Amino acid sequence: MIKMIVAYDKNHGIGWNNQLPWSKMHNDLLRFKKLTIGHNIVMGRKTFDSLDKHILPDRVNFVLSRTLTKHNDSSLIITSDINWILNRAKVEDFWIIGGSKIYSLFEDYATKLYITEINAQLTADTYYFPKLNYWKETNRIKFPADTKNPFDYRFITYHKATVV
Ligand SMILES: NC(=O)c1ccc[n+]([C@@H]2O[C@H](COP(=O)([O-])OP(=O)(O)OC[C@H]3O[C@@H](n4cnc5c(N)ncnc54)[C@H](OP(=O)(O)O)[C@@H]3O)[C@@H](O)[C@H]2O)c1
Repeated sequence: MIKMIVAYDKNHGIGWNNQLPWSKMHNDLLRFKKLTIGHNIVMGRKTFDSLDKHILPDRVNFVLSRTLTKHNDSSLIITSDINWILNRAKVEDFWIIGGSKIYSLFEDYATKLYITEINAQLTADTYYFPKLNYWKETNRIKFPADTKNPFDYRFITYHKATVV
């Protein structure tokens, strides 16, 4: 199964200068960690760069790239072969964690979408607009800003019965 997880602001901004547009949103990170830990995650090379090429622990990190040298160990797999991941996803779960290019590549194959919507308009240079008319909203929880989360935010979950 393919699941996607993304956080965006009111304009669907997901990135700025190869970082996130916000400096902290503690509960978003917590949710990200809770959902993805112990699973396969798939990211684009630029997102990998944004982590200073550090793998996210306790997860198998798949990095899509046509420029990085192929590298396989138990927790970092660099590949340019999307079909290889799609085939593996028939028997195991993959979490697509961004960025924008990678969300667009996988969205049609995904059946679950976890969004954190941040109630702010921030400076961004990378955006993601899921094709929400294909998705059915299954859950929505709203939270106010607090000391660890400088903006109001919502966790929204979507489901798609079949791939598009
Ligand atoms: N808010 C969020 O939830 C969230 C999540 C993740 C990332 N981000 C942000 O998003 C931004 C990065 O996103 P982005 O869209 O610019 O880049 P990206 O999707 O992370 O990475 C793009 C790279 O992926 C590789 N790639 C793309 N299509 C491919 C294909 N068909 N086959 C093989 N490799 C392929 C290419 O790497 P090569 O050039 O090496 O070939 C391409 O340059 C950053 O600002 C990051 O902080 C935000």
